[in-house]
Amino acid sequence: MRKLLLAAAAAAIIAIPSAVFAQAPIVIKFSHVVAADTPKGKGADKFKELAEKYTNGKVKVEVYPNSTLYKDKEELEALQIGAVQMLAPSNSKFGPIGIKDFEVFDLPYLIPNLASLRKVTDGPIGDRLLKLLDAKGMVGLAYWDNGFKQMTANKPLHVPADYKGLKFRIQSSKVLEAQFRSLGATPQVTAFSEVYQSLQTGVVDGQENTPSNIYTQKMHEVQKYMMMTNHGYIGYVVVVNKKFWDGLPADIRGELTKAIKEATVYANTSSEKENAEALDEIKKVGKTQFIIPTAAETEQMRKAMEPIYAEMGARVGKPLLDEVIKTVAGVSQ
Ligand code: LMR
Repeated sequence: MRKLLLAAAAAAIIAIPSAVFAQAPIVIKFSHVVAADTPKGKGADKFKELAEKYTNGKVKVEVYPNSTLYKDKEELEALQIGAVQMLAPSNSKFGPIGIKDFEVFDLPYLIPNLASLRKVTDGPIGDRLLKLLDAKGMVGLAYWDNGFKQMTANKPLHVPADYKGLKFRIQSSKVLEAQFRSLGATPQVTAFSEVYQSLQTGVVDGQENTPSNIYTQKMHEVQKYMMMTNHGYIGYVVVVNKKFWDGLPADIRGELTKAIKEATVYANTSSEKENAEALDEIKKVGKTQFIIPTAAETEQMRKAMEPIYAEMGARVGKPLLDEVIKTVAGVSQ
C-alpha cells in the first residue's frame, strides 16, 4: 500500500505542469526560540501578515516559534546554510559565529532606557553593526526590542554577596559570563529552550530575563523570587540569509523591506506593554515574591560589575563602547 501511495505521489509530481511551479510562492522560513505571545513572536507574526499582503501572496512566511525548528546556536548555523531564511536572535547570540560587537548591548547598567537605546540602534552605530553581518552570509534588516532583564532565583538577592556561589543560566555571551563572575556566581550557557528544565531540576539556581520571556516559559513556576534589577537589556537583530535576499526579484525585496519596517515599528511600540502585561500575569499567579532593590543596593551591584567594562571593552571594541556610552548619555530621560 505504502509503495502504491509513493508511486502515485511520484506520478503526481511528474504530472504537475511547470506553470504551477512558476507560480509557487517564495517561502520564507522564520525560526525563533520564544513563544508566539512575546514581543519577538508578535513581531514575526506581524511581518508574516504584512509580507504576504504586500506581495499579494507571492511570498509565504512560515513562522516557527518556541525552538520548534532550531535552538539558539543551531538556528544561526541553519540560517548561514540557507535551511531557514530569517531569524531574530538576541544581541547576545552573535559571539559564537564570530561577531562580538553586539555583546556591547549586554554590558550591565549601560542602557538606561529604550529612548537611549534607540539612539544607538537607529543611528550610525546601529548601521555599522548591521553591516558586519554581511561577512557572515546574512543581512541585518532591523533591531527589535524585548526589554529589560530581571534576575530570578529561589532565594532573595539584594547585593553582590547574595549571588556568591550560585549558578546562573546565561545566553552565549562572554559579557554576560563576565557579569556573573563579577558577582562571584558561576555562569552556565544554556539554550533558551532548556532554561525551564535547568531551573526545575536545579542544574542552575537562577537566570536573568525579561518578564515576557519569564512568563511565557513558565520560569516563575520554578523560581520563588524575582529581583526587579533592570540591569541589562535584551533586544534582537532581524537577519535574513544574504544569498536568498540578494537573489529576490527587486520588487519583492522592496515590498519585504516595507513589511519589515512596519513590523519593526509595531514590535518596538508594543514591547513595553507586552512586558508590563507579563509582569501583571506573574503577579496574578501569586507564587513569586518581588524584590525591589534600594538605590544603595543597585549602586553596590553596579560597582561590583563595573570592572568588566575594561575587560569586555577590549572584547567588543573600546571605540565602540565609548561611542555607545556617549550616545546614551546624550539622551535626556
Ligand atoms: C534568551 O535566550 O534568554 C533570550 O535571548 C531568548 C530570546 O530570544 O528572547
